[in-house]
Amino acid sequence: MRYFRLFAAAVMAFVVLESWAVDIIPTPLKYEKRNGVFTILTTTKITHYQGLRSSANYLAEHLPLQIREYNGASAGDIVLSTNKNLSEEEYFLDISQQGITIEGGSAAGLHNGIETLLQLLPSTVYSGDVALPAMLTACHIEDRPRFEYRGFMLDVCRTWMDKEKVKRFISNLAHHKINHLHLHLSDDEGWRVEIKSHPELAEVGGFRGVDSPVAARYGRWDEHYGGYYTHEDIREIVAYAAERNIEIIPEIDLPGHSHNLARVRPEVLCNYTPGLKASDGYDTRSVMCVAKEENYALLEDVIRELSELFPSPYIHIGGDEVSTSQWERCPDCQALMRREGMSEARELQDYFTRRVAAIVEKYGKHPGVWNEAARGNALPQGALVYGWESVKACQDATSKGYRTVVMPGEYFYFDMRQSRREEGHDWAAIFDAKKPLSFGFEKFTDEQMAHVAGVQASFFSEAYISRLEYDYDFLYYQTYPRICALSEVAWCGRGAEWEEFYARLKNSHYSRMVAMGIDFRLFPPTVNYKDGVLTASTDDRSHIYYTILGEQGEQLYTQPIRTDHPERYAFLTRSGGAHSPEAGVAKRFSRLQPKVKITSSITESERFPYSNAEGYGRISRTSRTGRDGDWILYTFEQAVECRRLEVRTGNLQLPRYIFNAGYMEVSYDGKTFTRVGELKNGGAAIDNPKRAIKAVRVVCTESGNGADFVTVQEPMVFPIL
Ligand code: ACM
Ligand code: ZN
Repeated sequence: MRYFRLFAAAVMAFVVLESWAVDIIPTPLKYEKRNGVFTILTTTKITHYQGLRSSANYLAEHLPLQIREYNGASAGDIVLSTNKNLSEEEYFLDISQQGITIEGGSAAGLHNGIETLLQLLPSTVYSGDVALPAMLTACHIEDRPRFEYRGFMLDVCRTWMDKEKVKRFISNLAHHKINHLHLHLSDDEGWRVEIKSHPELAEVGGFRGVDSPVAARYGRWDEHYGGYYTHEDIREIVAYAAERNIEIIPEIDLPGHSHNLARVRPEVLCNYTPGLKASDGYDTRSVMCVAKEENYALLEDVIRELSELFPSPYIHIGGDEVSTSQWERCPDCQALMRREGMSEARELQDYFTRRVAAIVEKYGKHPGVWNEAARGNALPQGALVYGWESVKACQDATSKGYRTVVMPGEYFYFDMRQSRREEGHDWAAIFDAKKPLSFGFEKFTDEQMAHVAGVQASFFSEAYISRLEYDYDFLYYQTYPRICALSEVAWCGRGAEWEEFYARLKNSHYSRMVAMGIDFRLFPPTVNYKDGVLTASTDDRSHIYYTILGEQGEQLYTQPIRTDHPERYAFLTRSGGAHSPEAGVAKRFSRLQPKVKITSSITESERFPYSNAEGYGRISRTSRTGRDGDWILYTFEQAVECRRLEVRTGNLQLPRYIFNAGYMEVSYDGKTFTRVGELKNGGAAIDNPKRAIKAVRVVCTESGNGADFVTVQEPMVFPIL
């Protein structure tokens, strides 16, 4: 017997090395291949022990088999049970010739086991049309997560996402064993949850633009745009998530990021006359007054309702990016500082955090906060800190003994763009799925690790709203396969070697995501030009397509292309709803930088003069917001021949600090101008101009943009190729 065990252990060690062949994401702790197969037939039953009907239902949604409760016999079935000897999220999955058993430490562990079983089945389980019989290789899996918190934060404020969209997102998170969804429900641009005691918060603050007191921002300028979740919607989302082992943590972002709240309830602001002149008659303040007792009464009403709606033990109360400038000018906040013996305005944030945390605790919950709120000494020990600013911010929170969710932006902000020419932000970093996969806890001491609750990624949605009409879903392009990498790190407690992980993606997980209907991002094809021949290749079995400048449509790439003009070609790959960014020879993506003079009806900002954008490399700004009739003029020293000329106000990646409406004119002689297009999201372009362009003018037709200035980008001039 003993010898047999030793022998079996040696064989097992060997097959464990082979375990990657099954391509499970995230990697299970222990996988042993066994001899034989089990075939799931249309007559196979899902048998569940008492109380596990909803787990059986969940499995049957993907694998449409008859369900029955265990009554003593289960040979040949898929048997779902719990095992008290396992930890809550742990599971054993056993596939033998006799049947399949999944034992979970609880329904949560069982869910994890079911997700693993789904990955062992043909990928069509995710599209609801799995073909039976399906044959499974026998195996035994023992698995549990390294971290109890595996999260994702979705910003539904900047871009409104309705109930169905959120449920679909939850469903896909669940397939990656993510178990927390942090819903960012209030921010400067939206309030997304019904509050019955203060219905105006959502009914007014859930919408912006047109007749709303909340100005349009980031797009959809001429729409009364937005929405909010009713209590019924929230209950439905919470229940849907719970069936998938996902807890929803609501966030109301306080006391900063409250511009929206202040537009609906201006009395929450500090008590002084704001600088209306500078902001063109528009009050841009966004921080709640700390000294007003009425504010705490309002927040108590909100927190009481949230505590009833969301079963999570946490309510996230924000605390990030709080400017103290308004408190410094407020006589009430100043009086509070004197009363409390404070020497710095920053201490007012501690005061606020302490007060609001106490309200959260009064309703039986713990506060969640962004890491800035953990810097002082205001947080109760039961708080959950979300470290977003840096790895160090996460370490600091753990060193103070707080349970900490690790989510530094440079690894886990999936609104960052994935390569230099792609879309999205870049302020934290530019990175693809390799970066989150490389995340390790090397810098954390054992003591600090003891306080790490887990890992989370996020998607802030400022850049999403102006891309909603794309023919693919930008949310999914930004988040997958980066969420696959998050899943690996959060479940295993460490990343994996990229080549090994990428093999799992290519061999199996890409087709699962196609079946899930996810418009994920593929890696770009490799393009080479040699001896007059242009070749493109990909390593992931996707199809390669190409476009030729000046020609309509996309063609399937089937063989090398002989050409003297490789710069006219751009290649990308597609698979289901997934696609890659474009690739080609460097010249294909080059720009001209002709000498240009920028002038405007608005004087320039001292810090960001127009010479910045004239120098092609830095942004310029006006000294005030735009008004009807304002203009920005770009005059080229020599008229430029080009295939496209684009001018843009505002940020490059999102329409903010723009001329909200207006048009673009070009001049071929520098004197007479012809209108060539309307501004869309602050920018416009002319394609294939018939003559060399001497000057371009952007004219504003709407006053105000919700900010104190307009950003002026360098002209984007694309050469004739
Ligand atoms: C944050 O990104 N301000 C949490
Ligand atoms: Zn104040």
